[in-house]
Amino acid sequence: MCGIVGYIGTQTAVSILLGGLERLEYRGYDSAGIATIDEGILRCVRAKGKLYNLREKLEHDVNPARIGIGHTRWATHGKPEEHNAHPHRDNDGSVAVVQNGIVENYQSLREELIAKGHIFRSETDTEVIPHLISEYLPEEGDDSDGLLNAVTKAVNRLEGAFALAIIGVDYPDELIVVRQNAPIIIGFGQGEFFCASDVTALIPHTHAILYLENGEIARLTPLGAEIYDFKGKRLRKTPKILDWSHSTVEKQGYRHFMLKEIHEQPDVVRLCLDTYLQLGWNSENGKNVNPIKLNLPETFYENLEYVQILACGTSWHASLIGKYLIEQLAGIPTLVQYASEFRYAPSPILPNTITIGVTQSGETADTLAALETEKYRRVGLEDKYRARILGITNRPESTLANMVDEIINTQAGIEVGVAATKSFTAQLIGFYLLALDLAYRRRGLSLQRLEELIEGLKALPGQIETLLEGQAKSIEELTHEFNDTQDFIFVGRGINFPIALEGALKLKEISYIHAEGYPAGELKHGPIALLDAKVPVIAIAMPGKVYDKVLSNAQEAKARDARLLGVVVDNDRAAAEVFDNLLYVPQVDEILSPILSVIPLQLLSYHIAAKRGLDVDQPRNLAKSVTVE
Ligand code: G6P
Repeated sequence: MCGIVGYIGTQTAVSILLGGLERLEYRGYDSAGIATIDEGILRCVRAKGKLYNLREKLEHDVNPARIGIGHTRWATHGKPEEHNAHPHRDNDGSVAVVQNGIVENYQSLREELIAKGHIFRSETDTEVIPHLISEYLPEEGDDSDGLLNAVTKAVNRLEGAFALAIIGVDYPDELIVVRQNAPIIIGFGQGEFFCASDVTALIPHTHAILYLENGEIARLTPLGAEIYDFKGKRLRKTPKILDWSHSTVEKQGYRHFMLKEIHEQPDVVRLCLDTYLQLGWNSENGKNVNPIKLNLPETFYENLEYVQILACGTSWHASLIGKYLIEQLAGIPTLVQYASEFRYAPSPILPNTITIGVTQSGETADTLAALETEKYRRVGLEDKYRARILGITNRPESTLANMVDEIINTQAGIEVGVAATKSFTAQLIGFYLLALDLAYRRRGLSLQRLEELIEGLKALPGQIETLLEGQAKSIEELTHEFNDTQDFIFVGRGINFPIALEGALKLKEISYIHAEGYPAGELKHGPIALLDAKVPVIAIAMPGKVYDKVLSNAQEAKARDARLLGVVVDNDRAAAEVFDNLLYVPQVDEILSPILSVIPLQLLSYHIAAKRGLDVDQPRNLAKSVTVE
């Protein structure tokens, strides 16, 4: 990982590469580099740290090259130092390669190549690739298919997951792009071609995109794009036109993408509901009409007994709420597992099960691999065990969307801030819709309750707007009081327990403050030992089944001198007696409350981090799209 950009055409490659890498910065990285070819010279410039370090190095170097590749690296094998930054080259610097992914058999290839006289200059797995390609290049560069053939031979020897962009000094009119289990796309311009690990890099240049599939190699020249498989057979492919708008990757006056994305939540929720709610379902003519139209095939619901959900990070938190909803509204037993754990210890195969992969990027390697595991272990089993795989994502063009049977597109679009905000609330809406769909089909709820919940969902966008308008300022002001705070505890119960986890994760991710989320009732079983006047406790106390319990758990913290903050609904008088500070949300049904209760926590984390002058959108060590296992 993490970001790849490649260009061949009539414009100056360096500026296109740098612009593309800037748009991929959000994915997280710790070094960067580019390689270009001009007048028979392959030039490679790399720098540790942020892109401005690379820009600085390139400043005084007029480079009119029309072909090049660029990379932002998030260190896996080898420290984030310049010599480990991509592009990597072969012995005589005639082939340059950038890679996302991991070459698993790199050690044995490295030994083989060293024995043949290759000299390695980095600790990375990637460096074996240019050396291997150079082994297969024809002696003279006059074989017109030389680079393509050499790359084809080389990639057949690589094990693992990788996306590559490659240039060779003897092939100045060719950019070769390879995909094997790591995403990469081709962009079609006028007399020019691009490649990138993510569509955001290409939005300003073209909307005509071809998603390479696993086992495909593209040869891009100024005259055209040819696609081959790993055996060298030519394939026929057609690009798609995407409808992303340029503004999705602009800050539009906000100081950070994260703040912009927090404020986009009303529209995202509205759009997702508009997409999947059936208008007029409760009218006279609409009697007996399912209020939810997810457009999943009927075979998905046949004899349904279980739901199992696989995800990582914030998406795993959304999945915990999904479990609560599916179990409590539709009565279907639901398992949630970390995708990274499931891969190596899958739960026993359950019959009549929908498996759901939840991911904002649609590219998380662990989630994709866990879903693959699930799919393949069911092949050939009797019908009740057949795989029914559903994706919940905001990236309908992602690898996830292409590998699952069906998706719920949560309509959140591209999210740039590394800390997930709008993609999380959109995933929650996806789960509300799915749970209500299942509840309707199983007659698990009265029509009156169904109507109440749907009306409640429809009110949410307006309520989020009210919350943002009314609370943003006071939350920002409150953060002044936490200048020196080093630990926070978040507690919640029932459907708001995952919000406590999410609140703690947001704070950790962007402010580097230690924070933990607990079910409020568990506080007394350990974490209470951490409490004193220096450790604030934030309790989510929404009216409903567990409200009184949360208040009494909060009191237990107060008795240990902890400063108490409460996320509560407007006009909650009892809460005002208990908490030192109140973060208000509009009145809401308990079961819908996570959509509102998470927002003050997003704002609190944002303002604490912004006030500390931290890089909110690209926090240290984190990546937006984790394409390694
Ligand atoms: C990374 C991101 C997190 C995200 C997690 C899972 O760690 O920084 O924000 O929650 O990956 O990502 P996914 O794309 O699968 O939702």
